[in-house]
Amino acid sequence: MTTTVVCIPGDGIGPEVAAAMKTVVQTTNAPIRWVDAPAGAETLATHGTLLPQSTIDAIDRCRLAIKGPTRTPKGAGHSSINVELRRRFDLHVGLRPFRSLPFPQGTIKDNVDIVLFRQNTEGFYDCREDVDLGPDGPEVTMSARFTALAMKRLAESAFLFARKHGRKKVTLITKSNIFKKWGYVYRNAFDMIAANYPDIEHNVDDVLIDAASMNLVMSPEHLDVIVTENMFGDILSDLCAGLVGGLGVAPGANIGETHAIFEAVHGTADDIAGKGVANPMALILSAAMMLDHAGYPGEAVRIRTAINEVVGSGHFVTGDLRKLYPQGTHLCTTKEFTTAVCWALHHS
Ligand code: NAI
Repeated sequence: MTTTVVCIPGDGIGPEVAAAMKTVVQTTNAPIRWVDAPAGAETLATHGTLLPQSTIDAIDRCRLAIKGPTRTPKGAGHSSINVELRRRFDLHVGLRPFRSLPFPQGTIKDNVDIVLFRQNTEGFYDCREDVDLGPDGPEVTMSARFTALAMKRLAESAFLFARKHGRKKVTLITKSNIFKKWGYVYRNAFDMIAANYPDIEHNVDDVLIDAASMNLVMSPEHLDVIVTENMFGDILSDLCAGLVGGLGVAPGANIGETHAIFEAVHGTADDIAGKGVANPMALILSAAMMLDHAGYPGEAVRIRTAINEVVGSGHFVTGDLRKLYPQGTHLCTTKEFTTAVCWALHHS
């Protein structure tokens, strides 16, 4: 049986890393059939919209997609494609694993193994912004919604994941010392779910976003599975990516009850787009998550093992990771890195 997956190459480095990702998945012989679909700023020029209806229909039909980064044009009138896709398909779980890789020079911290569950569909990312002209100039009023239901669903996913993967602890991160009512609603909902998982530890005292940020930098080994709000999750994602080497190595997934869209944490990296030097690792690791989700765990493990081998060999490094290798190490292109991963897969 073949699994059909929608592939949205996206903007900037998206098409380069998407091509690399497909080559690697094909090399595993996983029975994946790709349906390419457009979205992004470049699609606006060709199709008159950032997110064509045909792309939405394809995702709706296949229920599984992998997406390169997309650029949202600045200014009024365009909402983010990611926010739109998450809302439309109710992809309420933002799942982002951050694991240390065997870089020759090590990273800021070794032995990082954190899985972040980000609430993906409400909160500050989905807030209403009203602009008024006040006595001292323009003023913006924001109104965000935080629901017990969203936290219950997110916490359920996180605890289930923890049980399935033998993780020890789930930590809820909030800002309940300032936002007391929101903090109470999220905390209560989290605790109700935690009570059903006596085998998994959880934080009894509140862990605040500011303290958690410092702890992540100083002792990330104390955090295991994290559950947090949409915008906090966005910010912590980049922080955690920094701990394990940078945006070039951080994969992710947006998961709902019926649909799932996989994508790297990074953006369109316009400074290096079109040069053939982007690091495809984050999207390749996102594809491994997609294969796990689609029922091909063996292929997913083979990809992760191949990536570890290539990283550990010390011979293939894209420019974004140069500091993690000895000085003078030859920098490789996206294609050379991809070929090295495929070679490792062939010989596994
Ligand atoms: P960015 O992630 O595109 O780039 C930040 C820095 O990291 C740049 O120096 C870039 O070269 C580097 N970088 C990122 N990914 C890399 C990779 N795979 N290989 C090598 N170097 C890499 O973040 P930025 O500049 O804040 O955003 C650029 C655009 O991307 C914006 O329009 C933003 O809205 C969009 N974006 C889209 C996302 C998505 O579609 N999922 C997520 C984040 C940003």
